[in-house]
Amino acid sequence: MIKNQDNLQLIDIERLMKSDIAKNLKGKDFLKLLDFSTEEILHLIDLAQELKVSKKQGVPHKFLVGKNIALIFEKTSTRTRCAFEVAGYDLGMNVTYLDSQGSQIGKKESIADTAQVLAGMFDGIEYRGYGQEIVEELAHYSKVPVWNGLTDEFHPTQILADFLTIKEKFGKLKGLKLVYMGDSRFNMGNSLMVGCAKVGINFVACCPKKYFPNKDLIETCQKIAEQNGCTLEFTENVQEAATGANIIYTDVWVSMGEPFEVWQTRINELKPYKVTSAVMNMASDNAIFMHCLPAYHDKKTKIGKEICEKFDMDSIEVSDEVFTSDKSVVFEEAENRMHTIKAVMLATLVK
Ligand code: CP
Ligand code: NVA
Repeated sequence: MIKNQDNLQLIDIERLMKSDIAKNLKGKDFLKLLDFSTEEILHLIDLAQELKVSKKQGVPHKFLVGKNIALIFEKTSTRTRCAFEVAGYDLGMNVTYLDSQGSQIGKKESIADTAQVLAGMFDGIEYRGYGQEIVEELAHYSKVPVWNGLTDEFHPTQILADFLTIKEKFGKLKGLKLVYMGDSRFNMGNSLMVGCAKVGINFVACCPKKYFPNKDLIETCQKIAEQNGCTLEFTENVQEAATGANIIYTDVWVSMGEPFEVWQTRINELKPYKVTSAVMNMASDNAIFMHCLPAYHDKKTKIGKEICEKFDMDSIEVSDEVFTSDKSVVFEEAENRMHTIKAVMLATLVK
């Protein structure tokens, strides 16, 4: 038990670290939520909540002093990179950042060789890149834990942050209704569907049929959802999806790594699924708006401006009115990236 200077808040991280669930997580990779039980996911959220309290109260939590971690980013990042770095420093670790240009990764050295080189020097490795098979291969060849910082298929650390935010807002996860609007076949749609099925949130993907997640993943998640007493729905009808929703979630319509040319089709096909005040008004009175960020909610970014002007829009996947409204929790969500990533690193690296 750790107390702060005024003995006001008891930080029970030590208790959380000693449970059977905590023991199972030690040394484990964090590649996708499908690899984790409901209890393990909920444990990581609880641990993040405790770590957040420690941070806010100024209680030091340098449980991993002397450890070294490597962060590989083959795609750009603000939140994920900063979350890993700040969380690493808060835990007492040393952090090395490797981008796709400044290292040999991919160009002169294979993933398998990179994994073995880095695992000889570091205690943990974060990877952000393209196919999920790359992070899986990295983990296969690494003797130290590997954490997925986003692939085309999955973004598991984002979901922990989202669920922590939802829990803070509603006091629970189970039984809520989360509607994901937009391209549901990519990392965010897939990961939210898996995460919701695991923790008992009723999940709805709302988009044209061609943007529904792939059949195999849906089938896997349907079975998990049944065990956890929740439902997964797929609809093209916005009114039907949004009615009674507690959470309306969206993401960019064109993701990192996709060609610029797909914008035209995406705008045409996903425009009816933009999150506007009309959509939020269809949802429950207490509904919140979520977005993993970055978001094209105005013309204040290079790409946002270019696309908005080309297609005569003033925002893309979400209106500025919704983004800046009281219902929007996007910046709390962003902060929670750090607390939840800290929980993942602590849970998997602690002795
Ligand atoms: N949400 C998210 O992963 O943001 P970054 O791309 O900035 O890391
Ligand atoms: N779907 C987005 C998520 C960014 C956090 C992308 O992959 O670019």
